[in-house]
Amino acid sequence: MIPKSKIEEIVNAARVEEVVGDYVTLKKRGASMIGLCPFHNEKTPSFNVSPVRGIYKCFGCGKAGNAVNFVMEMEHLNYIQSLKHLAEKYNIEWPEQEITSEEIEAERQKASERESLQIINNFTEKYFADILENDEEGKNIGLSYFEERGFRAETIKKFKLGYSKDSWNHFYDTALKAGFNPELIKKSGLIKENEQGKIFDAYRGRVMFTIHSVSGKPIAFAGRFLKKDPKSPKYVNSPETELYHKSNELYGLYFAKQSISKTGYVYLVEGYTDVISLHQAGIENTVASSGTSLTENQIKLIRRFTENVCVLYDGDAAGIKASLRGIDMLLEGGLNVKVISFPDGEDPDSYCKKSGPVEFAEYLDKNKKDFILFKTALLLEDAGNDPVKKAQLIRDIVESIAKVPDAIKRSGFIKESAKILKADENLLINETNKILRNKNLQTKNVIADVPKESNYRDEIKEILDLQLHDHQEKDIIRLLIEYGDKPVEGFKNAAHFILNELHVKEIDIDHPVIADIIHETADQLEKDELNMMAFVNHTNTIITTFIATILSEQQEISPHWEKRFDIIMDAPGANYISDIESAITRLHLKQIEKMILSNQEEFNKAKTDDEFDMLQKVHKHLIELRQELSHKSGTVIIK
Ligand code: CTP
Ligand code: MN
Repeated sequence: MIPKSKIEEIVNAARVEEVVGDYVTLKKRGASMIGLCPFHNEKTPSFNVSPVRGIYKCFGCGKAGNAVNFVMEMEHLNYIQSLKHLAEKYNIEWPEQEITSEEIEAERQKASERESLQIINNFTEKYFADILENDEEGKNIGLSYFEERGFRAETIKKFKLGYSKDSWNHFYDTALKAGFNPELIKKSGLIKENEQGKIFDAYRGRVMFTIHSVSGKPIAFAGRFLKKDPKSPKYVNSPETELYHKSNELYGLYFAKQSISKTGYVYLVEGYTDVISLHQAGIENTVASSGTSLTENQIKLIRRFTENVCVLYDGDAAGIKASLRGIDMLLEGGLNVKVISFPDGEDPDSYCKKSGPVEFAEYLDKNKKDFILFKTALLLEDAGNDPVKKAQLIRDIVESIAKVPDAIKRSGFIKESAKILKADENLLINETNKILRNKNLQTKNVIADVPKESNYRDEIKEILDLQLHDHQEKDIIRLLIEYGDKPVEGFKNAAHFILNELHVKEIDIDHPVIADIIHETADQLEKDELNMMAFVNHTNTIITTFIATILSEQQEISPHWEKRFDIIMDAPGANYISDIESAITRLHLKQIEKMILSNQEEFNKAKTDDEFDMLQKVHKHLIELRQELSHKSGTVIIK
């Protein structure tokens, strides 16, 4: 994550005409510059660059944005990569190098702790394996347990399975004798201390699984209890250490990564034993989340190797339903998700053993289902004909579909699940769009995770298409950006005036990007840090593209506007206050129109005379208001 201040530094340094100038020969024309568009073929120049506003726009193909957008488009880079590219061009230091001496010291300490933990874990991995292989108790109890489960000798060796003796101190004593200091042993989680200060081995009488990092180093351990004892947990796992962050690791990945790259997909199972069984059966592209639901970092880890995930469920309906939510996260991560379930009471491990490797592989091939369709069918079974449940079900499915970042895939899923649900496709589309809009509000300013190239473009197109007809809302944003910092009597500035009017008149803004801009303006006003140009150079590329488009549209309509920007030191145009006022009035009118419509819908539902009277009064009031407003706005024609 690079600091916001750094992003600002780069964005402020990058002059759009210089950045574009690296690729396009620009000629001056009035206040702007013009050249042949690099994004489509043309003979007469329609590619416009406005150095004053820091934006470009092609009137031929419609591409628009600021310097960062240009690099993204031109070089096919994501947002962060583009910033880096610009940092290089402008000799700005990229933050990786900006570390203070205290940070270096802290890093050094952490590194040396990691190193020591690694050394003791290397030792311990051998210790547990050695007990399993050579110690009487280890052989009699541990090894025979693994053999009974059908693990072959080479599998046991490969996964470094082991055994921890049923003794209070055998491991601790051995480690001390080997020269490890007690503090370090404690940090590793391999021993524990009770309230009386008595120290004892953490994994007494358990078979041991070693958890390896992606590069194959032992970073943690898990011990499985062999008896069914409700008082002891089935597994004891290593605590979080400098070396091991449970939520960043996937069990088995080191052994699976080659096969994942080769086959192009990964099987995701729940348990350590599932991983081992499947690997032994030759299905080596298998990893486990270790019983918990997946984390964002684990999903990123998967993405490093493949985009295709197949989740293998343990075969009980309750378990499947519990994990549905977790799987939505995979969709959100942009992964293609398939699922396979097993007969009741079976997990991948048991079923694999029962059917043998060949039949098992066939089972996997035949039973892969697409997750969203699987979920739809599964929940539909539950809902039956209950309309309330069915409505809830539609909401559930739509939630999942909205998580898919790719617009084309989304519409595919909508079609398919509408069929299964026997529901109207448009209903699903509308519901999905609602969720998408809200999501956009929440993810404003998120820059750490840059959407993939194609998704970024889909998203922008969607947002620009979304409400092409809403001139009223676009007008108000244009006025806000253009004149926000100009004075208005009785207010801090014009932005304050606009926001106040929207608030007083209870005008809803539906458009996600516009709503974002309004929220941010409100934040800025509150901190007395109004900076309208900040939106042109915003870190959110959707906002910058949006604004560049709106500002350029305006330029097309009234060329004198360009002049206004050039004479920015002069008194502002005389009309901006009345422009704002009439834009607000038009928005208000639109809002009233909406209210009239929804009031009319209420009429259909009204049951009593009282209700009817009430609605009648509201209707009358709204119509009067509409009359008044349309009179005020003069030229506005109401549809
Ligand atoms: N798990 C855990 N702690 C527990 C129970 C489970 O950490 N008390 C994690 C382990 O990673 C385990 C996974 O959840 O592998 C799945 O649990 P489960 O199916 O109960 O264990 P298995 O490893 O499949 O063991 P077995 O096949 O012997 O039942
Ligand atoms: Mn299991």
